[in-house]
Amino acid sequence: MRTGEKLPSIAVIGAQWGDEGKGKITDFEAGRADMVVRYQGGSNAGHTIKVGEEVFALHILPSGIVRPGVINVIGNGVIVDLISLDKEIADVQDRGRSVDGLRISDRANIILNWHRLLDGAEERLRGKKGVGTTGKGIGPCYSDKIARNGIRMGDLLDAELLEERLDTVMPMKLKTMEMLEVRLAQTRDELLSELLAYGKKYGRYITDTSVLVNDALDHGKNVLFEGAQGTMLDIDHGTYPFVTSSNCVAGAICTGAGVGPKRVDEIMGILKAYTTRVGAGPFPTELNDATGELLMNVGGEFGTTTGRPRRCGWLDLLIVEHAARLNGLTQFAVTKLDVLNDMKKLKVATAYEIDGKHMEHFPGNFMMLERAVPVYEELDGWQGWKAGETMEIVRGGYDALPKEMRHYIGYIEKRSKVPVKIVSIGKGREETIRR
Ligand code: IMP
Repeated sequence: MRTGEKLPSIAVIGAQWGDEGKGKITDFEAGRADMVVRYQGGSNAGHTIKVGEEVFALHILPSGIVRPGVINVIGNGVIVDLISLDKEIADVQDRGRSVDGLRISDRANIILNWHRLLDGAEERLRGKKGVGTTGKGIGPCYSDKIARNGIRMGDLLDAELLEERLDTVMPMKLKTMEMLEVRLAQTRDELLSELLAYGKKYGRYITDTSVLVNDALDHGKNVLFEGAQGTMLDIDHGTYPFVTSSNCVAGAICTGAGVGPKRVDEIMGILKAYTTRVGAGPFPTELNDATGELLMNVGGEFGTTTGRPRRCGWLDLLIVEHAARLNGLTQFAVTKLDVLNDMKKLKVATAYEIDGKHMEHFPGNFMMLERAVPVYEELDGWQGWKAGETMEIVRGGYDALPKEMRHYIGYIEKRSKVPVKIVSIGKGREETIRR
């Protein structure tokens, strides 16, 4: 429950390739927030939240939506998938929750059917060199935004403006689709009336969210900025071109939520205790063996959005350092430590050997990365933690954690110079220790 005290505004950012458990930590932190703000990404994100026995799989709605009284903002930097939005709102309402606190930026771009079609067509053309996108139209939609060919949420509220935008943009998109041999099963008038209907349905949520967020901050409200994907999927700082099409690092909060750089007080990196990745691209500590399979099965590592199995591997301290530096992290939350229970030995990568060179910083060249041989340090695992004991450990606090686990956490802190403030040892909201 909210306490009424003024807490620092906080950002929750993925430190790896997404799927670090941001949904759970955001929800945990949202207990103290008045407002949760999404600022980048689209329905490629999959945030799973478990409340009691109920599980919510969110893609576009901010994770505070299941908390009564919280204002949930979809900022201008998000690209809005109206089909996904429609489904998620209906699901949340069907389960007895209100979405009255939802607000959507009038400046947020919309994912249209041609973006989905073009995403598929581009991936097919890339062939074996495909990015392995989620197929949600993310790349083409962000490309159109930058090329000034986007349709925005505010346009849905103004028929004249929307018609003008469609008539400017649609002929270009039709040409591109023809070239890439995909066909839109919709006429201009059908699309126009569909979009206007969405405008009618969701108009009351559409507003200038920059004003809203800054007002909330000015009035001492507790604001939480919820990142999607992760640092290694960032368009500039990730494993380009095997990345998503938005900036995922903390800097994106300013442009994607419409706030100045001094408005975020705490920047929390969410770090999974091991590493996973969905889709293609280099992954130096990947385990293509029984240990990787064990992590996948015990960790339930299957994509929330696409259901694809996630590739699994050891913790990579080069990534930890990369994320700490790029985001200016002030704290870490380490998740899924329980997945490593009962493993005798754990490995962490401390450096790479690439073409005979020793490297301690994550390189930008993906072909070099594919040749990287991790230099590992071996640490003792922790044993004998029984399934039913988790809450007992939570009640005992940080010091009740096995000493090997505390040592493992210490490694992360030493390399990143960032304190670990939250430790998550189970799926449930309550299976979390705040230090
Ligand atoms: P896109 O964002 O659909 O264009 O996909 C680009 C890459 O980012 C692919 O490798 C996806 O699997 C990955 N990706 C996108 N969103 C997420 C996410 O929320 N979690 C993990 N991986 C993601």
